[in-house]
Amino acid sequence: VIRMSDLDLNEKRVLIREDLNVPIKNGVVTSDARLKAALPTIELALRKGGKVMVMSHLGRPEEGVFDAESSMQPVADYLAKALNAPVRLVAEYLNGVEVARGEVVVFENVRFNKGEGKNNDELAQQLAALCDVFVMDAFGTAHRAQASTHGVAKYAPIACAGPLLTAELDALAAALKNPKRPLVAIVGGSKVSTKLTVLESLSGIVDQLIVGGGIANTFIAANGHNVGKSLCENDLIPEAQRLIAQAKARGGNIPVPTDVVTGTAFSADTVATLKTVDAITSDDMVFDIGPDSIAALTAILKHAGTIVWNGPVGVFEFDQFAAGTKALAEAIADSDAFSIAGGGDTLAAIDKYGVAERISYISTGGGAFLEFLEGKTLPAVAILEERAQNSVK
Ligand code: 3PG
Repeated sequence: VIRMSDLDLNEKRVLIREDLNVPIKNGVVTSDARLKAALPTIELALRKGGKVMVMSHLGRPEEGVFDAESSMQPVADYLAKALNAPVRLVAEYLNGVEVARGEVVVFENVRFNKGEGKNNDELAQQLAALCDVFVMDAFGTAHRAQASTHGVAKYAPIACAGPLLTAELDALAAALKNPKRPLVAIVGGSKVSTKLTVLESLSGIVDQLIVGGGIANTFIAANGHNVGKSLCENDLIPEAQRLIAQAKARGGNIPVPTDVVTGTAFSADTVATLKTVDAITSDDMVFDIGPDSIAALTAILKHAGTIVWNGPVGVFEFDQFAAGTKALAEAIADSDAFSIAGGGDTLAAIDKYGVAERISYISTGGGAFLEFLEGKTLPAVAILEERAQNSVK
């Protein structure tokens, strides 16, 4: 791809697509990780003398109507404070917008535009006409082929990748394409079904695939144990057995918890009981891994060359079931491995245990991070590669 850092942006109209889709409560941004990650790109475009426009989606509003709930105003307010530059939110921009050098124009939510989700050609051309250089920097939305991520890149005079997007892709490539081994992945979360392709793809490349959360329950059941009333997908037990066999066949391993912490209801005050997996009763719900499992998994992480982390291994929002996720977060932080983490719940755990500084790379992607792990091509990156190839021909 062409990189923004290599381009002359002086006096150029520069349209940057960021993923500024952040949680907002009462008009205030409640988690600014994505905004912080986007700032260096915007600042670099300003330093390079560009006339800078920034666009993003926020939430999933209905297209074609304005919805105050999904307005970019709180994001624009945040940027105005964070950037040492005047920031202006513009609602009507499709027919052209004046931008002065040194200021930042933020477009209102791109998902208010009819045709954004379906990657409408006319809308993409309108966006492309606004700029001399289109910068795709929204890694978190790179798995969406939409007018502001994909279509615009088709038609803009120049389409390039911003520094955040390339940093994300470089970090993921370092972890998965040519990793220092042993390569260990942790895939937690509630359901096997939503992560089946990730598990499938990772079990083909990693040395150890640690499963956690509800996902682990299906694997515990696959090993022949009763999991009581736990979240468990019985129809996927054969799939779990196949993954275990497949990993073993290539010299890898899927370690399954041997002891667990159970409760009897999904609630903050349910009593936690430690059990071995063969002692789980019909009334039990598995909410965390036990100390033996923690010890086994932290030993694996200690010797890892590379760690990929997506998803908690227990219900860490309830303190009595947080020990597993906390211990793993700390083991990742303590390890000398190159570590990369991504996904909403994972970031919440990283914040809660204060280990952000000691993880090599924290991705801004949720769905996009998972699709990369699945081995899928991200359409908004593919179009940049296509454009770059055509420009050298
Ligand atoms: C995300 O939060 O994963 C991205 O911003 C994409 O949002 P979407 O799932 O609504 O397309």
